[in-house]
Amino acid sequence: MTDLKELLLSRIRDVADYPKPGVMFKDITPLLADPEAFTALTDTLADFCVQNGATKVVGLEARGFILAAPAAVRAGIGFIPVRKAGKLPGATLRQAYDLEYGSAEIEVHAEDLAAGDRVMVIDDVLATGGTAEASLQLIRRAGAEVAGVLMLMELGFLGGRARLEPALDGAPLESLLIV
Ligand code: PRP
Repeated sequence: MTDLKELLLSRIRDVADYPKPGVMFKDITPLLADPEAFTALTDTLADFCVQNGATKVVGLEARGFILAAPAAVRAGIGFIPVRKAGKLPGATLRQAYDLEYGSAEIEVHAEDLAAGDRVMVIDDVLATGGTAEASLQLIRRAGAEVAGVLMLMELGFLGGRARLEPALDGAPLESLLIV
């Protein structure tokens, strides 16, 4: 394992039975509180954006914002928030997606993405893949191109990578840690 992966893993805390019994929650707050680890992560995310020719970074609410925003600044490109429905004041594009029980909706300001943009999606966790898949649909509906999807962690046992594969349409999916 690389030094970076070891550093990141050592700063992610497992919390048993949160938010409900039987779930092992991956808490990234110790990583965020450690400037060495957070800087190393930010630099790695920004490098991946630059290497893949991204012109914008989309962060997925809420923990994705914390990782995507500094990466966008470091890469020298714009940060675009994809929010849970009802939080953005302007004209939006909205996308529904299925959850284990029920469904959810995410939105982006329509003016934030357009033809000619190459967009990197950044989030903390790839679980079932539903949120990331919906974000790729939003990006394409806006006329923009997907540069890739970049995750701090991938919960491999939930099969999110397979779900996301068709929506990626050849764009890279990179997870720094597979847990
Ligand atoms: C978590 C996580 C991802 C999403 C992954 O967000 O931060 O955005 O779930 O799940 P999926 O792959 O099954 O779609 P959550 O909705 O818990 O919100 P938060 O970041 O606001 O805490």
